[in-house]
Amino acid sequence: MTAKILDGAALARTIRAQCAVRAAALTKAGTQPGLAVILVGEDPASSVYVRHKVKDCEESGIRSILERMPADTTEAALLARVEALNADPSVHGILVQLPLPPQINERRVIESISPDKDVDGFHVVNAGALMTGEPRFLPCTPYGVMKILEDAGVELSGAEVVVVGRSNIVGKPQAMLLLQRNATVTICHSRTRDLAAHCRRADVLVAAVGKARMITAEMVKPGAVVIDVGMNRIPDGPNVGKLCGDVDFDGVSKVAGAITPVPGGVGPMTRAMLLVNTLEAAERDHAAGNPPVAKAI
Ligand code: GUN
Repeated sequence: MTAKILDGAALARTIRAQCAVRAAALTKAGTQPGLAVILVGEDPASSVYVRHKVKDCEESGIRSILERMPADTTEAALLARVEALNADPSVHGILVQLPLPPQINERRVIESISPDKDVDGFHVVNAGALMTGEPRFLPCTPYGVMKILEDAGVELSGAEVVVVGRSNIVGKPQAMLLLQRNATVTICHSRTRDLAAHCRRADVLVAAVGKARMITAEMVKPGAVVIDVGMNRIPDGPNVGKLCGDVDFDGVSKVAGAITPVPGGVGPMTRAMLLVNTLEAAERDHAAGNPPVAKAI
């Protein structure tokens, strides 16, 4: 079997085009959507991600504000910046790029973002809303994965779904979203006994562990849908440094029914869903009668 490729890059292009239409309509109505991105330090991978996010905004008609802060920024200084952005009516979404330097408590920073501007969906209020089935902002990666599955027409009701990874950003919210679609969800992690046996039961397998090519062909049920959330660099060999996922694509694509590639699968969808969340935030704000006031500079 050769798996169907689930083209996240193409789907993301469609979603970005839809976002551009929504952003133009909202801007015409008096509210230009605005996203503030804070990058603390100069982590190379984070710098690339942030640059892409800002570029996506520009191309969709969303105003973006990129704030760079030095690596030795104190927690108090970062909290003060977030507070100012919370109070700025021209900013509808705030994203603090993770990871943060060790002197800063990540949780405290996430909780300082107004839940109404938390376009990452990481705030405890938004995580709780997802848990109780009334989500406001969905974390972008799991949201993007759900869109890929929906676009591919994957039946989730009653399906055996295995999520490998239990992070707050991906694994846990992903499991919740799948549960809401009536899948039977198993979350596997580093202490799971016989990971391969769990994975082999899966009709849909979501790999979100952060380990290059750890899901191999023998761990996949023939015909399964495989979603690869991983973004790793190949540690050694002839392709050292090249981007790869958590799934051994060459082997698994011969067994699976459908698979997302890396790059070009989940990554572009994560970025697209950030635009969707920012638009949601701006549309809600506009509907509440809070168009941005001109800022005195
Ligand atoms: N670092 C890696 N992924 C993400 C993300 O989705 N949001 C934020 N804020 N930081 C990240």
